[in-house]
Amino acid sequence: MNQDYIKPDNWSIIEEGFDAESVKSSESLFSIGNGAMGQRANFEESYTGKTFQGSYIAGIYYPDKTKVGWWKNGYPEYFAKVLNAPNWIGIDIEINGENLDMNACTEVTDFRRELNMKEGWYNRSFKAKLKNGTEIAVNVTRFLSITLDEVGIINYEITPLNKDAKIVYKPYIDAGVTNEDANWDEKFWEPLEVKHIGNEAFVTAQTFKTHFKVTTFMHNSVLENDRNLNLSPTNFDTSADKIQSSYAVIVAQGKKSSIQKIGGYTVSLNHANTLTAAEKVIQSALAKGYDQLLQDQIDAWAKIWEMSDITIDGDVKAQQGIRFNIFQLNQTYLGKDSRLNIGPKGFTGEKYGGSTYWDTEAYCIPFYMATKDQEVARNLLTYRYNQLDKAIENAEKNLGFKDGAALYPMVTMNGEECHNEWEITHEEIHRNGAIAFAIFNYHRFTGDYSYIPEKGLEVLIGIARFWHQRANFSKDKNQYVILGVTGPNEYENNINNNFYTNYIAKWCIDYTYEQIKKVSLEFPSDHKRIIEKVKLAEAELQEWKKVADNMYFPKSEELGVYLQQDGFLDKDLVPVKDLDPSQRPINQKWSWDRVLRSPYIKQADVLQCFYFFEEHFSKEELKRNFEFYESFTVHESSLSPCVHSIQAAALDKMDMAYTFYLRTSRLDLDDYNKEVEEGCHITSMAGTWMSIVEGFGGMRVKNNALHFSPKIPKEWKAYSFKINFRGQILKVDINHSETAFSVDGTEELTIVVNNNAVVVSPYNTVTVK
Ligand code: BGC
Repeated sequence: MNQDYIKPDNWSIIEEGFDAESVKSSESLFSIGNGAMGQRANFEESYTGKTFQGSYIAGIYYPDKTKVGWWKNGYPEYFAKVLNAPNWIGIDIEINGENLDMNACTEVTDFRRELNMKEGWYNRSFKAKLKNGTEIAVNVTRFLSITLDEVGIINYEITPLNKDAKIVYKPYIDAGVTNEDANWDEKFWEPLEVKHIGNEAFVTAQTFKTHFKVTTFMHNSVLENDRNLNLSPTNFDTSADKIQSSYAVIVAQGKKSSIQKIGGYTVSLNHANTLTAAEKVIQSALAKGYDQLLQDQIDAWAKIWEMSDITIDGDVKAQQGIRFNIFQLNQTYLGKDSRLNIGPKGFTGEKYGGSTYWDTEAYCIPFYMATKDQEVARNLLTYRYNQLDKAIENAEKNLGFKDGAALYPMVTMNGEECHNEWEITHEEIHRNGAIAFAIFNYHRFTGDYSYIPEKGLEVLIGIARFWHQRANFSKDKNQYVILGVTGPNEYENNINNNFYTNYIAKWCIDYTYEQIKKVSLEFPSDHKRIIEKVKLAEAELQEWKKVADNMYFPKSEELGVYLQQDGFLDKDLVPVKDLDPSQRPINQKWSWDRVLRSPYIKQADVLQCFYFFEEHFSKEELKRNFEFYESFTVHESSLSPCVHSIQAAALDKMDMAYTFYLRTSRLDLDDYNKEVEEGCHITSMAGTWMSIVEGFGGMRVKNNALHFSPKIPKEWKAYSFKINFRGQILKVDINHSETAFSVDGTEELTIVVNNNAVVVSPYNTVTVK
């Protein structure tokens, strides 16, 4: 059974009724973020029930020393972790002398949470009866400002219901936090300074090893019936890493009392002096005030939704699902800073360490390209360009490669490899291909070639050199082979000739070769600069070509399918439908030995190749490979169902496409994998977007034009989305009888719908049956 306590709603995520068992799941689902920081939906007041505390700051990490049973050469020294950052939200609350703790109250009723995705705020309300008999109503709103992205705001209201109450608010900031996933139970934060003035307080701490300095700050105001009482704290409790102030008020029965807490972080990535920066940030927030900050938040989200919303008519759960995905992607990454990237869990949990994976290039870039200005995707590409030296070092250090061959890490924060598992992640060299593919995809979509001569070509050359050196000539096959890899399907390790890897390796070399020739003709000075820098001679190019032109691809002529790897057909090929459901998920039920020998596939692998390079294959080949591999796929990666959904739609298997769509879009809301308490699957959310736009909408970019082949699941009445194509905004509205296209702007746009050219002029909707 999947979980189903989230109320269906078009714009909000809603939970009603207090269930201590779902607190950790809800802490993930109701997380908030603004691209610069994020916060799990932890309670402000004390809570002694089960909880997973998480506050995160983009780009702030700790290299946690690797812990393995048996050390092997090639293991990375450390696993980079996004840190649980100092707590800025905490407010202990005393009511008539008793500490408020929902886990200890005599009764909690009317509990409700709402994450309002349209306006970007999170609210929680409840009534509680304390052991001392006082009954109160609580209503708390919190958001992380998009306009002032170092600032979070909490408005915490309490109304005593059955008697007058002495309320003591004890807001605090605390750098004495730890990570649940710390390898050696070490502390990651070293406190440096604690300071307070008036209603403001600051804790400055730095990370051990990486020495990121962070000032966590707060400013508090106490109000009665929305009137600021201008109270000063009666007391400050300080320790080396924590500071807590107290404000006491007597509140008459039925009157509303509140505390407004402004908090957040200033970090040394952005400021030379984080303390003075924090003082300034508080002033900017106070100058705006709560109401204006909230209005700015609503306006900022309206702008984001204006471009990125997808509407679905006639299916609230599907609507809620896609908006949740789009909302979370925007909470995680807004594309302002090329030093940042998109961790698989975003700011919603510790798993995957907030690090960058191939997920960004393989899954996220299409969403950001189509819903934001091209700068955003370009920043994601630049992130890898800036880490090219480290990728070259990585190939040298780990594989003994030379002459500028680059192996990008599978898991990274700063360009260094920091995965935890050798057989799986280390051998997943296919990620190098996705990084090159993203450069191609960026140019295909945006038409902006300038990135390639400026930066991309160097990355491509490093990657092509890697593939050239990694392949070896097999005398037996009289072709080049790539041995000892893990493909995207992590349920087979150390295999030979993974079709996907061999294919993308060849493609990378061919594509790089073409770009070198193009840049030499069209951007000769860039060509000269790059060739001199990387010391590339024509003879080396010819060596690469030999590998690409003679790459081996495993294939079964009899079945008409490419083989996931050399030995795939030796397996006991029992399809998933004949697998006892009690054995799933196999990664939780079976030993690794059993998983590896089985034919079961975690996520698209051969089919990932068909996804990236659809045009290289016929529909008939897609059908055969899809039907063959789908029957063995267990979709135990969140990244899996979206690719299958897109391909099922292309093959007119709409029921299947819809089932996969639901699975990807409500993966976290319905907790399909029974792990949402660890955090949400942020990177696969971009795949959900792809399932609608590329799957049902059939969008592709070919020869500088958008192509569509619109379809609609029978469960929906209509749906719509927008695409920012090279600065022009195209709106697509699809229902069961027709598709309407319109453009915002002054220029006409020629698109291709079901293989026919259609001209869409401004202010004129074109309808295609
Ligand atoms: C998937 C990888 C992915 C990683 C992070 C794994 O479960 O198999 O492809 O990169 O999660 O999302």
